Amino acid sequence: MNILLTGGAGFIGSHIVDAYIADGHDVTVIDDLSKGKKSNLHPAARLIVMDVRDPGLEDVFTASRFDVVNHHAAQIDVRRSVTEPSVDASINILGTLGLLVRSRAHGVKKFIFASSGGAIYGECGDQGASEGDLLRPESPYGVGKASAELYVRLFGERLPYTILRYANVYGPRQNPRGEAGVITVFIDQMLTRQGTTIYGTGEQTRDFVHVADVVDANRAALRGGNNLTLNIGTRVETSVNALYKTLARLDGVSQKPKYAPARSGEIERSLLNPANALRHLGWHPTRYLEQGLKGTLEYFRQRKEALVPA
Ligand SMILES: NC(=O)c1ccc[n+]([C@@H]2O[C@H](COP(=O)([O-])OP(=O)(O)OC[C@H]3O[C@@H](n4cnc5c(N)ncnc54)[C@H](O)[C@@H]3O)[C@@H](O)[C@H]2O)c1
Repeated sequence: MNILLTGGAGFIGSHIVDAYIADGHDVTVIDDLSKGKKSNLHPAARLIVMDVRDPGLEDVFTASRFDVVNHHAAQIDVRRSVTEPSVDASINILGTLGLLVRSRAHGVKKFIFASSGGAIYGECGDQGASEGDLLRPESPYGVGKASAELYVRLFGERLPYTILRYANVYGPRQNPRGEAGVITVFIDQMLTRQGTTIYGTGEQTRDFVHVADVVDANRAALRGGNNLTLNIGTRVETSVNALYKTLARLDGVSQKPKYAPARSGEIERSLLNPANALRHLGWHPTRYLEQGLKGTLEYFRQRKEALVPA
């Protein structure tokens, strides 16, 4: 297939590029390199350095007949979305809309959209959030993702789509800044012996999904899951304290973390029920957290320069 992948020089996007190329697809990447890095990018991918809102996007679509558009480019910093909500909306809502308009006009057969379960459901119960639950985004970033989803569905009549709502994704190449960087932030602080700060009691929970599992979902979405919105998470809750303990044990760190006041707007429990992804995509998470943490720690140990200050 001929695939356009936005945000392909970033953390998740670059892993999807690797997999799509390994599977024999032609991949064009649009990335403005505001957060992504050329060094993340597979040499066989064609990189166009461009903002997704650039009018030049039209020429990109005219020059290549894409079968699939996979949209991962985004402003992913929740705190920035609070201080600069218009910038967030411009990139995450209008940027998505521009891609949808062009995809439909140029006969794209499938649109895959990276949404965020962690940012749009709000507080979650024991069973984990399900796709039909009422959305309660607590940040402009979450509102932007929920709005973009509505546009994707609106265009769905003539542009088949799959919306993937990710839990907290982690793994190699993640930048310690951003939406779900807690694992990379802790690893950064441990490897550089800065000491770790936990905000709040540390008993808040998150659902951590390995980037390789997210890649598998994006592979499956090329073939299935048409016109569906699917959670990509594990339904396993891990507290920030438990995460710290595991990482400290793996890294041989004996220092206790410091605690600071909770950040406003942080939710207590986040976990996603992925039953529908299993039913419709045959997808389920296969990487255990401890194993994934070992691999991620090893990656950053070998590339300390990949860590930038948070
Ligand atoms: N990391 C997570 O846990 C997580 C969770 C839920 C959803 N998501 C979504 O997954 C996608 C990828 O996230 P990531 O963690 O890989 O982040 P990332 O910052 O590593 O990747 C985003 C990429 O988009 C590029 N980009 C940003 N603004 C752009 C613009 N205006 N035009 C072109 N390129 C632009 C950046 O340079 C970067 O390479 C995002 O849509 C994000 O909202 C991520």
